[in-house]
Amino acid sequence: MTVVAVFGATGQTGRRVVERLVRGGVDVVAFGRRPHVFEASGVRTVVADLTRSSVADLEALLGGVDAVVFAAAGDPVRVDRDGALRAIEAAERAGVGRFVLITGMGVGRDRPRALTGGFWDAYFGAKEASERGLRASTLRWTILQPGELLNRPGADRVDIAAVGSLPIGAVSRDDVAAVVAAVLDRDDTDGRTWELVGGSASVEEAIDEALRR
Ligand SMILES: NC(=O)c1ccc[n+]([C@@H]2O[C@H](COP(=O)([O-])OP(=O)(O)OC[C@H]3O[C@@H](n4cnc5c(N)ncnc54)[C@H](OP(=O)(O)O)[C@@H]3O)[C@@H](O)[C@H]2O)c1
Repeated sequence: MTVVAVFGATGQTGRRVVERLVRGGVDVVAFGRRPHVFEASGVRTVVADLTRSSVADLEALLGGVDAVVFAAAGDPVRVDRDGALRAIEAAERAGVGRFVLITGMGVGRDRPRALTGGFWDAYFGAKEASERGLRASTLRWTILQPGELLNRPGADRVDIAAVGSLPIGAVSRDDVAAVVAAVLDRDDTDGRTWELVGGSASVEEAIDEALRR
C-alpha cells in the first residue's frame, strides 16, 4: 500500500493519522475543507468540502489512491452520513481497494442515557448509516468505533473488540491513529467492526486478540 487519502486530515485525529502514516513511509493525500498545510514531506493536500463535493468530484480527487481513512465529522447528516456515503461511492468508482471508517462507540449497541436523545440519536444514526453503506460496498473495509477521544499522549495500550463487548470508555487520539495505521497494514482486519478504548494491550496484541475472540 503506498497512497492513503485521509478525510478530516485537519482534525485532531485525522492530523495524527496523517503524521503516523507519513512516519511509516506512506504517501498521504490530506483532505480538508479549507486550504491547509502539512510540514511533512510525502503529504499532498486537497481541498474538498464534503457538503459540497459530488461523488464525481471526489472520484476525480481519489485517482491513484490505494486506501481511504475517513476521520471527518461535522453536521451529522451532511458530513458524517452523506459525506461518508459519497466518499465510499467515490472510492469504489475510483478503484480504491481499502476503506477505514471511524464512527463511534455506541453504534449498534445500547447506549447510556447520557448518550441518547437529541443530538446523540442524530449522531449515532448518521454513523450507523455510514457503516451500513460501507458494508454494502465492494471495498475491503474496517470500521473502528472509538470511545470518547482524548488528547493525552498515546500509550500504545488499547482494548479492541466486537461491537457491544467493551465497557463504554475513552481512548487517546494518538492510539486511534496507531490502530488505523496497523489496520491498514493488515489484510486480516478486513470486514471487521471493532470498538476501541484505552486498555492493556499493545495495538498489535489487541488486534490479534480481537481476531481470536
Ligand atoms: N470527539 C469524540 O470524542 C469522538 C468519539 C468517538 C468517535 N469520534 C469520531 O472520530 C472522528 C475524529 O474525531 P475528532 O474529534 O478527532 O475530529 P475533529 O477534530 O472534530 O475533526 C473533524 C474533521 O472533519 C472535518 N470536516 C468538518 N466538516 C467538514 C466538511 N463539511 N467537509 C470536509 N471536512 C469536514 C474538519 O475540518 P476543519 O478542520 O475544516 O473543521 C476536521 O478535519 C470523527 O469521525 C468523530 O465523529 C469522535
